[in-house]
Amino acid sequence: MKRVLITTSGRPDEVTETRAFAAEQALGYARIPRNKRSVKNLMATNSSDLLVVGKERYELYRQTMSEPFFFHPDTAAFRLKRLLKGETDPLVEMCQLEPGNSFLDCTLGLATDCIVASFAVGATGIVKGIEVDPDVAFITATGLTQFQPKFQELKEAMRRISVVQDSASVFLKGQPDHSWDVVYLDPMFSQTISESISFAPLRHVGVHGSLTEEWVSEARRVARKRVVVKAHFNDPVFEQFGFTQIIRHNTKFHFGFIEK
Ligand SMILES: C[S@@+](CC[C@H](N)C(=O)[O-])C[C@H]1O[C@@H](n2cnc3c(N)ncnc32)[C@H](O)[C@@H]1O
Repeated sequence: MKRVLITTSGRPDEVTETRAFAAEQALGYARIPRNKRSVKNLMATNSSDLLVVGKERYELYRQTMSEPFFFHPDTAAFRLKRLLKGETDPLVEMCQLEPGNSFLDCTLGLATDCIVASFAVGATGIVKGIEVDPDVAFITATGLTQFQPKFQELKEAMRRISVVQDSASVFLKGQPDHSWDVVYLDPMFSQTISESISFAPLRHVGVHGSLTEEWVSEARRVARKRVVVKAHFNDPVFEQFGFTQIIRHNTKFHFGFIEK
């Protein structure tokens, strides 16, 4: 099992101390003093990953990483701006999201897709993100509630999302039949594709693993309108689980859906 320790960036002030305590409580990891040592040095001497607590954000370093994982709305900002201008978004179209819908994101990650879905379903909708990795779940959940975005619509969409740290199939098993309009699945691609700079660290941090029969059948049971998957265009999941694959030219990832 991976070992993670908590430390602070530079000299901690009161805000950083409070945030470090919150991380200790939420994740149950021990804290070590920074004592002006580098992240690399602390990871090497303790043979551990490191959660570095700053005044404004949490940064997670796995021993294999040179760049940290931290929360950022990433492409959600410009996707929302496009929607505000009356343009479309592939996820919103594929999920046929309307105001008031409920959207269950089984693979939250950085919550970029979830933020776009949250904007689309609006204040009367319900959006929940499930994330199996405790560190990712913590960093994304705190980012969604604390990050100060540049425009109000983005802030509201972020604040409306609730996060649950769990494995998707375990969470789905506890949900009644037809209880969510859309169930969305975006597990980590097996193929490497070029992606945004802030998404790349998620590859080292999040859990890799394909969809399973159990996961998809639970998603089908729980969805009222559609189960939607996102995967590399030649990923076998589309055929394996009976998703209708929508071909998008010039993009390496495609969506697929199962209609209810
Ligand atoms: C490709 S990323 C999702 C990116 C996300 N759609 C976004 O917009 O940021 C996949 C995420 O799902 C998580 N994950 C993988 N298997 C999971 C499972 N069985 N249950 C819940 N989360 C899982 C990974 O840890 C990772 O954070």
